[in-house]
Amino acid sequence: MRAHPPETDSGTGGRGAAPVGCAAGPGRSDVAAAEQRPAVRLPGLALSPPVFLAPMAGITDLPFRRLVASFGAGLVVSEMVASQEMVQARPGVRARAALGLEEGAAAHCPTAVQLAGREARWMAEAARMAEGSGARLIDINMGCPARKVAGGGSGSALMRDPDHALSLIRAVVDAVSVPVTLKMRLGWDETQLNAPEIARRAAAAGVAMITVHGRTRCQFYRGRADWAAIARVKAAVNVPVIANGDITDPETARRARSLSGADGVMMGRGAQGAPWQPALVAAALRNGAMPEIPEGRAFAAMAGRHYEEMLSFHGRSLGLRVARKHLAWYMDRAATDPALRREILTARQPAAVLARLPEALGGFRLRPETSSTAPPRQPPQREAAA
Ligand SMILES: Cc1cc2nc3c(=O)[nH]c(=O)nc-3n(C[C@H](O)[C@H](O)[C@H](O)COP(=O)(O)O)c2cc1C
Repeated sequence: MRAHPPETDSGTGGRGAAPVGCAAGPGRSDVAAAEQRPAVRLPGLALSPPVFLAPMAGITDLPFRRLVASFGAGLVVSEMVASQEMVQARPGVRARAALGLEEGAAAHCPTAVQLAGREARWMAEAARMAEGSGARLIDINMGCPARKVAGGGSGSALMRDPDHALSLIRAVVDAVSVPVTLKMRLGWDETQLNAPEIARRAAAAGVAMITVHGRTRCQFYRGRADWAAIARVKAAVNVPVIANGDITDPETARRARSLSGADGVMMGRGAQGAPWQPALVAAALRNGAMPEIPEGRAFAAMAGRHYEEMLSFHGRSLGLRVARKHLAWYMDRAATDPALRREILTARQPAAVLARLPEALGGFRLRPETSSTAPPRQPPQREAAA
């Protein structure tokens, strides 16, 4: 349990007390300093590298988080977990918060369990449960735009009711000892860009880090993320701020940091089919050694192991459905022949899928001109699987 900090902003932010320029973004020296900083520092926890995997419902299950963490990421976040359903043990819900990065290369990467909800008692209870199972951070979802979620008063709907949002935040901060973080959008719509004000109040209530997806709720996934607008949140708080939205490679990560002055970046869709991408971006930002990225048969073997883990984690029926999404992304990256792609995505026998993966994915090579794997543009996806 934690006492509320005083009413001033608190925390061990990634920058000093001097505010960073607002709409114009931070100066060049701030950015250079930020790029050299190896970690985002929270009370009792350093998140390094400052490149994180975003929560994605139906995607960032334990097998995918483990895979991303094994290449290197400063933080991975669970799928959104509905707090009341978690406490009441609705079937399948607790699996979304499953932890298990304690082995191998992934062991150094902390996991945040992300909670959604609109009632303080469920949020607090679910946070206690997640902490009890080993979550290193609790993240509060204030960004989900899906009607199913926001229509019920959770997710991004909380940005329309900051007083209520603050009561949930305080309940969660009081309930656990691990850092509590917040993920939100710029506001509900362009007339209510209240992220800086909510961030200021949340930090004063004890939130240790704030991630901002640079779109409003009403934009869903349309348009482009406004990284410069995130600078207003950065200027409002002394806790670390993480920029999110449309960051897919080193170039977009650099631009997002430069425009926002954020302490780190969070990537979602850019890691689909490319679990190494956060590690690649992190290495590029600090001019460090690139992670070893599997190509050809090694790529097919990685996908095969991931496939088997998904089936074993979710069970065959759900596992096949979850796995199809990831296989489709892997095949996008490898530009798999359309007929073979169809055959794999409609196969019912795991053995048949595994047998075809070397042919389907063996052609994958990194793009030499960028040593990157810019993901194919995808239509926006729904957040509301949770
Ligand atoms: C399929 C999908 C599911 C998502 N689920 C969640 C979620 O459970 N919780 C959340 O805070 N954001 C969720 N998001 C939003 C992402 O975390 C992220 O904010 C958004 O995709 C923008 O980042 P990106 O451009 O790097 O993907 C989801 C996004 C997608 C595409």
